Amino acid sequence: MTSRPRLGVNIDHVATVRNARGGDVPDPVRAALLAEQAGADGITAHLREDRRHISDDDIERLMAALTVPLNFEMAATDEMQKIALRHKPHAVCIVPEKREERTTEGGLEVAREENRLAHYIAPLREAGCRVSIFIAADMRQIEAAHRIGAEVIELHTGAYCDAHAEGRFDDRDRELEALREMSAFANSLGLEVHAGHGLTYDTVQPVAAFPEVMELNIGHFLIGEAIFRGLTPAIHEMQRLIEEARA
Ligand code: PXP
Repeated sequence: MTSRPRLGVNIDHVATVRNARGGDVPDPVRAALLAEQAGADGITAHLREDRRHISDDDIERLMAALTVPLNFEMAATDEMQKIALRHKPHAVCIVPEKREERTTEGGLEVAREENRLAHYIAPLREAGCRVSIFIAADMRQIEAAHRIGAEVIELHTGAYCDAHAEGRFDDRDRELEALREMSAFANSLGLEVHAGHGLTYDTVQPVAAFPEVMELNIGHFLIGEAIFRGLTPAIHEMQRLIEEARA
């Protein structure tokens, strides 16, 4: 087990700002390269079906420019599978996607779609991509992710972070306990455990402290924080907090 979880920096929202004006700036690939220089262990980008932030061209350029691994987030559609098989990124993270949502709202429903998802991820694994499944801290979903042959699960930390932000501290502590228990459970099945969604300087440490968590993927807060202190210092502070939590 590494001494601290890897930090994957999600650069989707640099593209959100770019697309608000429809031009070329700010460039998410430039942000990714800066994050890499700042010591990010990986870059995460979500190519949504509606292309609301990251574009096909961004993925093309990220694949060409990055030296750290790209974690390619995508919905389990035929189109996305073709794109992933063309680029063969280091990692593919399968996420649920609804057009009307503002962000990825919940975990993937694996248990109900076990057969389809097992067939869906098989070629990705054969192509050498490390497949992870973005799911809630729910034993049934974790068991299903294991059965379909995923190597990694990413636990959705959104409910924990929302409860914290809204001052519902009993709910927050319950969500955190579920994340703790399910990290240990997934690890006992041999799954690698990642976590992410909504994490901030205030919420990252309890999750980073779980010994099973090998990677944290953080985007929206870091890109927002970069407005005030710059991307490199924003990432360095997150890394410091993660290291402190694990020490
Ligand atoms: N992990 C997954 C699977 C995600 O879908 C997202 C959001 O795109 C993140 C992590 C990062 O979440 P946030 O941008 O809230 O830090």
